[in-house]
Amino acid sequence: MERNITNHLVTEYINGFYVPATPELGQLREKSEAEKVPIILKETEDFLNVFLKITAPKRILEIGCAVGYSAMFFSECCGAQVVTIEKDPEVAETAASNIARLGYSDRIRVEQGDGEEAVNRLIEAGEEPFDLVFIDAAKSHYKRFLEASLPLCRPGAIIVSDNVLIKGCTASDQYDPTGKFKTNIRKMREYLEFITHDERMDTTVMSCGDGLSISKLK
Ligand SMILES: C[S@@+](CC[C@H](N)C(=O)[O-])C[C@H]1O[C@@H](n2cnc3c(N)ncnc32)[C@H](O)[C@@H]1O
Repeated sequence: MERNITNHLVTEYINGFYVPATPELGQLREKSEAEKVPIILKETEDFLNVFLKITAPKRILEIGCAVGYSAMFFSECCGAQVVTIEKDPEVAETAASNIARLGYSDRIRVEQGDGEEAVNRLIEAGEEPFDLVFIDAAKSHYKRFLEASLPLCRPGAIIVSDNVLIKGCTASDQYDPTGKFKTNIRKMREYLEFITHDERMDTTVMSCGDGLSISKLK
């Protein structure tokens, strides 16, 4: 499906500047892209690289780990400790093995389970608060993931949500002519309405990659 957020010529031009954080992460990106594992897009990574260096979070919670690519990228680019949640047990195992193989086991912990349930487990176990939450899992559950994570955010924490424009569909139904993504689109619109109007945070929605929202808790 075509991306309808930015002109592909502009995206290709910007991606021409992309340099992987490490050769090993570059190889994992190539493998993931070849196997159609949905990892963060190059444009998103480039933006987050500078954003994480500016904001310097010490502890990051990620919901939606896949093969561990973004978790390792986060830790590599700002030195943060990362707790990353993955629902699929086999995928969580692959992530843990990639993280061990590339030498990040002392900084990244994989928690297997549904985002909300795993976060509740962390709260019960007395997990320390996080400086940044990255939401990148099932698109129709972002609000549930956000609300579960709020008690684990320190004051002033940042919440970054990926894929919020769903290839342009969130902005216009014309990009989903068959209605295949109707539920995801409706839920994502509700999520963006919620985070842009909630008085506990300031939020911006950006047409970077597949759409990013950044919220800063007050
Ligand atoms: C877009 S991928 C994550 C990509 C990863 N953040 C990266 O950039 O390397 C989304 C992942 O979320 C997982 N997922 C889906 N529903 C979930 C849920 N309810 N709780 C936790 N993870 C979930 C999927 O199995 C998939 O691996």
